[in-house]
This record gives sequence, C-alpha cells and structure tokens, in this order.
Amino acid sequence: MNLTLEQALSFGQETLLASSLELSPAEAFKKARLLLAHVLKKDPSYLYGFSERVLSAQEQTLFKDLILKAIQGMPLSRILEQREFWSLPFSLNVATLDPRPDSEVILDVALNLLKGHNTSLRILDLGTGSGCLLLSLLHMLPNAEGVGVDLSFKAALCARQNAFNLDLSQRASFIQGSWTEALSGKFDLIVSNPPYIPTSEIPHLDPSVRLFDPFLALDGGIDGLDPYRNLIPKFKDLLSPKGFVLVEIGSTQSFDVEKIFQAENFQNIMCYQDIERRPRVISAYV
Ligand SMILES: C[S@@+](CC[C@H](N)C(=O)[O-])C[C@H]1O[C@@H](n2cnc3c(N)ncnc32)[C@H](O)[C@@H]1O
Repeated sequence: MNLTLEQALSFGQETLLASSLELSPAEAFKKARLLLAHVLKKDPSYLYGFSERVLSAQEQTLFKDLILKAIQGMPLSRILEQREFWSLPFSLNVATLDPRPDSEVILDVALNLLKGHNTSLRILDLGTGSGCLLLSLLHMLPNAEGVGVDLSFKAALCARQNAFNLDLSQRASFIQGSWTEALSGKFDLIVSNPPYIPTSEIPHLDPSVRLFDPFLALDGGIDGLDPYRNLIPKFKDLLSPKGFVLVEIGSTQSFDVEKIFQAENFQNIMCYQDIERRPRVISAYV
C-alpha cells in the first residue's frame, strides 16, 4: 500500500531516529521533510498543504532509498546534490568537494582587500570544484570576470552549470586542466583552495568526508604541501602589477606556506583566521 505524504514523513522520521545518527526528533523530522520534498521536486512547505496526497510507487521507492542513504551516513548535501555557500545555491556532483563554511574566509578577505576598487578585475580560481569561490566573488563584484580551473572535467562541468544557474555565465569561464598549465594573461586576484590533507591522514578523516568527498579534492601529498610548492612559484607570472593571491591552508600549515611565499619574494604576506581562530587563509602580493 502506498503511503500518504504524512505517513511517509513519519516513516522517515522514525527510521532516522532509530538509526545510529543520534538525531533529535526535530532534526530527524527536518531531514525527512527535506528528502521527501526533494523526491517530489517541491518546496518543503508543499508537504503541509498536501499531507493526504498518496505517493506513487516510484516516489515511495526513491524516498526509501534516500532515507537508507541518510542512515548510512551520507551527508544531506550529497544526497540532495546541493549546498548553500555564501548564501547562494550550488549544485554538487561526485567530482566536487562539498564546500565548507571555512572557505568563506577567502571571500571575506578578498572583499575587504578590494574595498573601494571599482574598475574591472580579472580573477583566477585554481581547483575550482563547484565554482563556489569564483562565482561568489563574481556575484559580489559586478565589474569582475574570471576563470576557474579544475583537473576534473566533471567538476569543471558542474561549475559551469552553477555559473548558468546563478546567471553569471557571461563573466565566468571554466576549463579542465592541471593548475596553471593552460593559462596565459594576467589576473588581479588569484584564489585557491587546493587539496591540503597529508595522504596518510585521509583514511582517518570522518567518514562523511573520507567516503563522500573526492580524493582528488583532499590529497595534498606526503605533507599536504605539494600544491603550494607547485603553485606558488607560478603565481608571479600570472599576476598583474598590483595583483594578489589568497590561498586557503590547513590550520597547521601557515608557517610552511608563508615560507614558500617568502622564498618566492612575495610581499605583505599575511595570515587570516577562521571563526574558530585557526589560521585559514594566506594573502600575498607581488
Ligand atoms: C579542496 S577542493 C576545493 C574546491 C572548491 N574550490 C571549494 O573551495 O570548495 C580542491 C580542488 O582542486 C582540484 N584539483 C586537484 N588537483 C588539481 C590540479 N592538478 N589542477 C587543477 N585542479 C586540481 C580538485 O579536483 C578539487 O576540485
């Protein structure tokens, strides 16, 4: 027998509550509601008005599948393939990192350092993933245009789709390639949140990260610093005379990454903290 929306919600809530996720009844209800709304391709508020509607067999199977994924620990953003970042909606796919709130520090710092700048700007985002950094900057800076690069073709496609969804396609282009390999021309700002987890730490990460974020988006080599060693020497050729770069770092990497910038004679090297007061972003000028 097929369930009504109300019955499906109770089923979802009870199943989630009985799982090892340790959710409160309110959290379980909210999760079930979001999953059911996703299955129905409706806003969650729809469920209140149509609680007696009966699910089709296909909708019911899909809903049960999604509840199963949730109780197996798949993050909601992965199930819904959607994440809010900088208050904007971003689609995700299996090749993109699930953007983290910590990465918004790059945007805060960029907007602060660019205050009062109202002429045109060219921005480069290396390791763009969903495009969340570049597209959020373009959303905030109407005079800017930019390029996002990712080694994963699937990630670059996702970023392109996000640009379209956010009506930013005219000012954003995305290419598949390794770091700066295919690039020429000058940029006023380079941002990058490269993979920076030491390889040996990846098996010990929380399963919600280890099992669902792509390895390519996490693995920074033996000490996590490979991308910085690779990228920083190349930044100077790509920066305009007053240009600057912002890189995200792991919380224990500020000393080492600053040293790499110093070795390349960058100026005004500064470290910025995240909301937990951990080092999170380094800025450097040519
Ligand atoms: C930590 S994720 C950051 C994604 C996105 N910028 C964000 O902040 O959510 C790092 C990204 O770098 C990409 N990447 C890894 N190696 C790369 C390479 N050699 N060239 C370009 N991109 C690379 C990964 O595919 C991944 O999308």
